[in-house]
Amino acid sequence: MKTVIENLSEIFMEAFEKAGYDKDFGRVVVSARPDLCQYQVNGAMSGAKQYHKSPMMIANDVMANISENEMIENVSLVAPGFINITVKDRFLTDYMQGMLTTPECGFEKTKTPQTIVFDYGGPNVAKPLHVGHLRSAVIGEALKRMNKFYGHKVIADIHLGDFGLQMGLIIHELSVRRPELCYFDESYQGEYPETAPFDLKDLEEIYPYASAKSKEDETYLAAARQATVELQEGRSGYRALWKHIMNVSLPDLKRNYQRLDVDFDYWLGESDADTYIPAMVNKMKDDGFAYISEGALVVDVKEDTDTAPIPPCIILKSDGSAIYETTDLATLVQREHDFKPGRVAYVVDKRQSLHFERVFRCAKKTGVVKPETELSFIGFGTVNGKDGKPFKTRSGGTMKLSEMLDLVENAVNIKDADQMNANEVLELKKIIGLAAVKYGDLMNPIESNYIFDLDKFASFEGNTGPYILYTMVRIKSILAKLREKNPEAIKGAKFGTITSASERDLALSLTRFSHTVTEAVKKDAPSMICSYVYEVANKFNVFYHDKKILAEENETALKSLVALIMLTLNTLDIAIQLLGFKAPEKM
Ligand code: ARG
Repeated sequence: MKTVIENLSEIFMEAFEKAGYDKDFGRVVVSARPDLCQYQVNGAMSGAKQYHKSPMMIANDVMANISENEMIENVSLVAPGFINITVKDRFLTDYMQGMLTTPECGFEKTKTPQTIVFDYGGPNVAKPLHVGHLRSAVIGEALKRMNKFYGHKVIADIHLGDFGLQMGLIIHELSVRRPELCYFDESYQGEYPETAPFDLKDLEEIYPYASAKSKEDETYLAAARQATVELQEGRSGYRALWKHIMNVSLPDLKRNYQRLDVDFDYWLGESDADTYIPAMVNKMKDDGFAYISEGALVVDVKEDTDTAPIPPCIILKSDGSAIYETTDLATLVQREHDFKPGRVAYVVDKRQSLHFERVFRCAKKTGVVKPETELSFIGFGTVNGKDGKPFKTRSGGTMKLSEMLDLVENAVNIKDADQMNANEVLELKKIIGLAAVKYGDLMNPIESNYIFDLDKFASFEGNTGPYILYTMVRIKSILAKLREKNPEAIKGAKFGTITSASERDLALSLTRFSHTVTEAVKKDAPSMICSYVYEVANKFNVFYHDKKILAEENETALKSLVALIMLTLNTLDIAIQLLGFKAPEKM
């Protein structure tokens, strides 16, 4: 279905054209003054300069070209040249009937689908997931779902950090602790054991230990670097250890992401880009882009318009090893080869913006991607504690993601818990806790930092995930009651006359569903969907207090109310699914 704005814009664009003005000035927007009107056109003001006329004159000309139609109830002019619009109730109810009877609430998929790779998650193998990994997962998943719903072909790739120094650190530390293992014997010819010489617990101890030690001990760090280079170069014992590390870590990572209801089409990592490096490097050299500077192979990426110095992009370090830039560039080669994306979008901590700026410039300059390929850095802010500093455990350590989720689930207070069995309560806490975390994150603009406020996020009141779920469950329970008492009203749900301001208000928001999703997708802004669901939930609750739905005796009126709450539930249901969580049946 065309959006309401598109329908209205057609009328006004035509009127602008008929009156002799550029039709683009006739675009309709949602009213900035809901107390005065529902929609508005501001083009008369924008056109004033071009046509050397006052906005009021232009608006008057346009008004003269609006004829009686089925959509518009009232159009009025307000100085200095606003055209204010109110639509007919009948149009709203017909439109909602269309939404109720069309899949996906009438959302029309894009006619120009793109292939988009979303690079999010980005955990480093062998390090437990911590709070810092939350946002990439939550935001990336929402953007992926939104773009898929919009009609794009989306590919989610986790881009594991699995070939860098952290691997070298673990390998080196193991060689110190257990030098007798066959992995370290360079003359070893046999098969390597199938089971790893460590488990997850060991890894979770070894990595932080080695990482801390490398910061104090230069020789140790150099040895770990050397191990990293040898791993990348293919030393067989190290590759075998690497496989063990992957096999031990991945199931745990998968469990964590599953708990977040975040999933990926590809679990590729830096290591998968490795095979693309030599050819890429040679081409950059042959084409004259890469040159040696202070021993390293680099590509200049500074531009005349830069106001701050942008250091060259390092392709290979002086010891010949690949670094973060190298793997990101080679990954673009791989993505081009496998997926031919029109866009590659990275959901990463905003403090990495310079890294991506350099990688993007280098990729464009050297032809790693096509000139028209869109490379987007979607940088997010930090999750802070109430003290405004990065969120930590009580003792000041980094908090594991799983601990954080436990905390939230515990903070969810289920009112009728004593009337449910223990499993039900647990399941509910999981569902509500996830909504609390995801909504608490996504409601903020991506680039902003936010404060992780457990009590606020888990509250059933205010602008929170649980409040949205609570509203949805309220609707589900009304529908369940009716299904028993009066199934005909459910089966025959049909929009009739709007009889109150609160119904109309809710209708106005519901009919903006497609428009809102479209804008949110175009702006990479899940927060717009959060604002939308909050608006719909609030308007529903006002309506619910106004109207005793279950007491409605007139059958036609009842069917209309049922249609309204069904559509409310449907839109909320799709919207929260886009955000990455779901509602329980009861709570
Ligand atoms: N593993 C990286 C980190 O922990 C994040 C990866 C982000 N994605 C990328 N293509 N670089 O910082």
